Amino acid sequence: MHAWLCTTPTGVDALTWTELPSPAPKAGEVLVEIKAASLNFPDLLIVQNKYQMKPPLPFVPGSEYAGVVQAVGEGVTHLQPGQNVACLSGTGGFGTHTIAPAALCMPLPPGFPHVDAAAFIMIYATSHHALVDRAQLKAGETVLILGAAGGVGTAAIQIAKAMGAKVIAAASTDEKCALCTSLGADATINYGKEDLREAIKRLTEGKGPDVIYDPVGGDFAEPAFRSIAWRGRYLVVGFASGPIPALPLNLPLLKGASIVGVFWGEFAKREPKANAAMMMELAQWYAQGKIKPVIDRTMPMAELPAAFARMGSRSVQGKLVLVN
Ligand SMILES: NC(=O)c1ccc[n+]([C@@H]2O[C@H](COP(=O)([O-])OP(=O)(O)OC[C@H]3O[C@@H](n4cnc5c(N)ncnc54)[C@H](OP(=O)(O)O)[C@@H]3O)[C@@H](O)[C@H]2O)c1
Repeated sequence: MHAWLCTTPTGVDALTWTELPSPAPKAGEVLVEIKAASLNFPDLLIVQNKYQMKPPLPFVPGSEYAGVVQAVGEGVTHLQPGQNVACLSGTGGFGTHTIAPAALCMPLPPGFPHVDAAAFIMIYATSHHALVDRAQLKAGETVLILGAAGGVGTAAIQIAKAMGAKVIAAASTDEKCALCTSLGADATINYGKEDLREAIKRLTEGKGPDVIYDPVGGDFAEPAFRSIAWRGRYLVVGFASGPIPALPLNLPLLKGASIVGVFWGEFAKREPKANAAMMMELAQWYAQGKIKPVIDRTMPMAELPAAFARMGSRSVQGKLVLVN
């Protein structure tokens, strides 16, 4: 097998495409032949030693992938060789094969392509947990989504629309705003050229959004929060722009509003039954055509450095997927 190996976590340039011994699955594990692996934001951080999870060296990056089970270890009964699966295991995806914990592998129903499956779990699980569970979004409410053309942002648009909410999608270019409109957003804000607060005021007739979904952080957090509706819920999803914002605590007081943390990975660990039910619902929504990953493009696995460069330059719309 071959994989992109990280021996020193100093960045993408230090990754090498390396031949490795073919592994055999131990108890509770499966060997997966990888067909597709998507890029998630933490993949870029982990190879720079900037992510909270620091795997022992050397490791193969690639948090999320889909492929075909080749062999199963002792005690694995719900998967067989030949089964198509999607998996989010944190590492191992950027290669031709990997060993995955069987418990983290989601069997794929017929008609679920590997490219969609590799781009599915992280973004939909995060956005469903955020909007349904944490924000308790209701039909008819208005949700503002920042970074709306990115991975979790595009998933948030589709889920909010499936729930009957009104969606205002905010992104940095007209092209990204056009993508959001094509996904069903009711209105868009190009925060690359429009004043965010003025645009929110205009689009909500001064009331403000009931829910704000923020995977970007940085300079937009405070103006967005200042615009929130009475009893609004502000979802802290991530900090793709870099800086972690600080908010004056008089702001939630003045709006009777809540700042709501979202950490899907920890939710999945602490509340596995609720997570499994959520994943089941998402798979049904996919089968019914209510949600479908936006694939920016596919690239050969060998082009991982170019794929990372595209993500780092803020060019990806939806998800970028590497294929074998
Ligand atoms: N809390 C959780 O459970 C959870 C789960 C998954 C992901 N996350 C976090 O959510 C964030 C977004 O993840 P994602 O996979 O959706 O990433 P993504 O596809 O790269 O999207 C991030 C968006 O952020 C915006 N952005 C603003 N400044 C940026 C900058 N300097 N560099 C890159 N992007 C910038 C971009 O939109 P514009 O150009 O339109 O501004 C981009 O589309 C990350 O911080 C990730 O760690 C959190």
